[in-house]
Amino acid sequence: MSGANRPPTAALRPALPGDVPMLAAIAEAAILELTEEDYDSDQRDAWAAAASDEEALAARLTDQLTLVATRDGEVVGFIALADNRLIDMLYVRPEAVGEGVASLLYDAIERLAGARGATSLTVDASDTALDFFSKRGFAPKQRNTLSLGGVWLANTTMEKPLAAPETTH
Ligand SMILES: CC(C)(COP(=O)(O)OP(=O)(O)OC[C@H]1O[C@@H](n2cnc3c(N)ncnc32)[C@H](O)[C@@H]1OP(=O)(O)O)[C@@H](O)C(=O)NCCC(=O)NCCS
Repeated sequence: MSGANRPPTAALRPALPGDVPMLAAIAEAAILELTEEDYDSDQRDAWAAAASDEEALAARLTDQLTLVATRDGEVVGFIALADNRLIDMLYVRPEAVGEGVASLLYDAIERLAGARGATSLTVDASDTALDFFSKRGFAPKQRNTLSLGGVWLANTTMEKPLAAPETTH
């Protein structure tokens, strides 16, 4: 993409309780519109319904370190880290996909996790996100099948060791 057409860089901030409806809408749209090559319509519907449940999402936000990316004040994606080791959610608004939003979110959460003492990160990566995490140093560990709303979906547990923080002696 030429510099003249490059989309503006996103800004990052922690998620707020008032973000929940927007985050639910982004998760739903990302799943329904971005994973068609990897999951059929029943699978996408079941996954989207689970991921956009606002009550469950609000509960996860209170427990997890969640960052949102914004452009011109509009939320364009978010990432959530559980227990300082598990990337539990990563969704980007379909209109903003392929523009580095997930990379920005991931890099920030990796730095934060490392600063808080994490020695590795794991993710149950969707088939859609396998390449994304592979390119960022994650290796596949196991293939999983899970039942969501009576529908079977597959994902892959991936892990990335983090370098030990530098010490100054
Ligand atoms: C996966 C997802 C988060 C990536 O978001 P994004 O903002 O488009 O990612 P980026 O623009 O930062 O892309 C980073 C890299 O991943 C690659 N990539 C992104 N989406 C990809 C896809 N669907 N398939 C293969 N590669 C992909 C890009 O080519 C890019 O490569 P590069 O670093 O060599 O330039 C987004 O597609 C999404 O929300 N998907 C649906 C929900 C999902 O599967 N979430 C992950 C749950 S574990």
